[in-house]
Amino acid sequence: MKKLLVIPSLFIILTAFGQAGEISIIPQPAEMQLGTGSFRLKGRTTITYDNPSGKAVAEMLALKLDQASGFTIKVKEGSRGAIQLNINKEVNSRLGTEGYTLSVTSKNIIISANKPAGLFYGMQSLLQIMPPECKCAPAVNITDYPRFPWRGIMLDVSRNFFTKEEVKKYIDEIAGFKFNTFHWHLTDDNGWRIEIKSLPKLTEVGAWRVARAGHFGDRDNPKPGEPATVGGFYTQEDIREIVKYAQERFITIVPEVDVPGHSMAAIASYPELCCTKNPDIKVNPGTAFSEWYGDGTFKMLVDNTLNPSDEKVYEFLDKVFTELAQLFPGQYIHVGGDECYKGYWEADAGCQALMKKLGITMVEQLQGYFVDRVEKILQTKGKKLIGWDEILEAGISPNATVMSWRGIQGGIEAAKLGHYVIMTPTSFAYLDYQQGEKTIEPPLYSGLRLRKCYSFDPVPEGVDSKYILGGQGNLWTEQIPEFRHAEYMTWPRGWALAEDFWTPIEKKNWNDFVKRTERQFLRNDYSGINYSKAIFDPIISAKKTDDKTLVEMSAEAPGLKIYYTLDDQMPDDHSPEYIKPFEIPAGGPVTLRVIAYRDGKPAGHLITLSPDDLKKR
Ligand code: ACM
Repeated sequence: MKKLLVIPSLFIILTAFGQAGEISIIPQPAEMQLGTGSFRLKGRTTITYDNPSGKAVAEMLALKLDQASGFTIKVKEGSRGAIQLNINKEVNSRLGTEGYTLSVTSKNIIISANKPAGLFYGMQSLLQIMPPECKCAPAVNITDYPRFPWRGIMLDVSRNFFTKEEVKKYIDEIAGFKFNTFHWHLTDDNGWRIEIKSLPKLTEVGAWRVARAGHFGDRDNPKPGEPATVGGFYTQEDIREIVKYAQERFITIVPEVDVPGHSMAAIASYPELCCTKNPDIKVNPGTAFSEWYGDGTFKMLVDNTLNPSDEKVYEFLDKVFTELAQLFPGQYIHVGGDECYKGYWEADAGCQALMKKLGITMVEQLQGYFVDRVEKILQTKGKKLIGWDEILEAGISPNATVMSWRGIQGGIEAAKLGHYVIMTPTSFAYLDYQQGEKTIEPPLYSGLRLRKCYSFDPVPEGVDSKYILGGQGNLWTEQIPEFRHAEYMTWPRGWALAEDFWTPIEKKNWNDFVKRTERQFLRNDYSGINYSKAIFDPIISAKKTDDKTLVEMSAEAPGLKIYYTLDDQMPDDHSPEYIKPFEIPAGGPVTLRVIAYRDGKPAGHLITLSPDDLKKR
């Protein structure tokens, strides 16, 4: 059932935003001085742009101000408007291509930048310092520029499909926090999502799977003859529209076609592409088709891997990348390369013959051969290759860029070999992980709290920072069936990552970030964008010492008081307050109930840990 959007009282929101001097921007700008007074927007306010390249941002700003204020703000070329968007006549070298200065006084608002991208980011900061009805802005002087050139978010649209309008909304949301890269995971075992005109079965067959309910990964296999009715794909017309929409927001789209593993949807469409050529392979509806052995090794029970020894596979990829290269103007195409199971290669006569011919003895090396071939295809289309860090294992192609996801080690090795790297480790940047108390949050096998996201520094010690292009948050969507939940999983952790990737490291401050996060919550309430309040839920751990269970609790957000009961009463701020670790009393099964308060009001969820839950911690 879809929830109705509940917009809180306008009065509460305006009051919260209306206080002078309350400037709250995410990501925190590099330099900021507060002024006195404020600029007041009027019906006759005009926005000017002094260079034709600033026109589009000026018009976007006018539209946003009109929608919020009800005014009709005029836009014209020139440099005398009460709101000015100016391109620097002399390049300000501190600002680079994305930086800006923003000056707000009682008389005017001036955003200056070397390039239109800077005007766009200046606009985003301006909109964040205005109250939701955008009729005023507090006086301030900002000089701001990003720490990294790659500030990305990845959305997986294979495990669950998101519509064109949802993808555009997501792009608009991330652009608001100065992300500049949208990594679009377009293909995987659970759906092929992009029309390739020369390979129509990819979307006739590969975009659809049988309907299943329940936890992704534990679902029933397709039955013989069962119709595949769930899914969807983007037509090339849709893709062009989304690319243009992203460009208008200074976002580069990096499309990913994940090969040679994770290819079950392509194989369901064209079974001849895999070693087993099994015509019964179907687009996977979320079954358990792999076994994981806890040490990173695994087995795929269904063949989901392209055959590296078959020239037909490279002809297939040439067609795919030809069309992709025409659709996406960015310099990079992501070719996946992760979690590629080699068992079917091992058993295949063609792969064995190829290994002999290449003089290689380990089947893993075939992936190096495959990636080299793919890189050559991309070069003929004028594109550069990015892959997940597994592409390092088989001898990396000299020009490949690496996305380090299994921790940061792959990124460190790649940077030491002189490759460009994007840091996106599970430990700091996996937005599909649970963000709060695991008995409350929707289930997943791992967790990642906001504070951990906020502590992420993409440049590891001892690595030349010039090789670290930046970082990225990844939203895998096995457990994300609807867009509202994609928002819930992205925010506020995406804000923490935005600050990790933009703000000078010495300007980051957790307590201040939480304050700004809470103000952003109000903005989200106003705009109806979903988010998680997990930072108000205490972190509870339990340790067994001798025969006793010792409970420890802490709060992620500052200023919380934690109350608990051990006697089946509902906790409130009259219950015992948590001060220090305590023992679970012996003599019978005990349930722990916990709630956090702030300023005398409940702030988080009620957490109930059964005797069994406590035992498992
Ligand atoms: C990945 O998470 N398999 C890149």
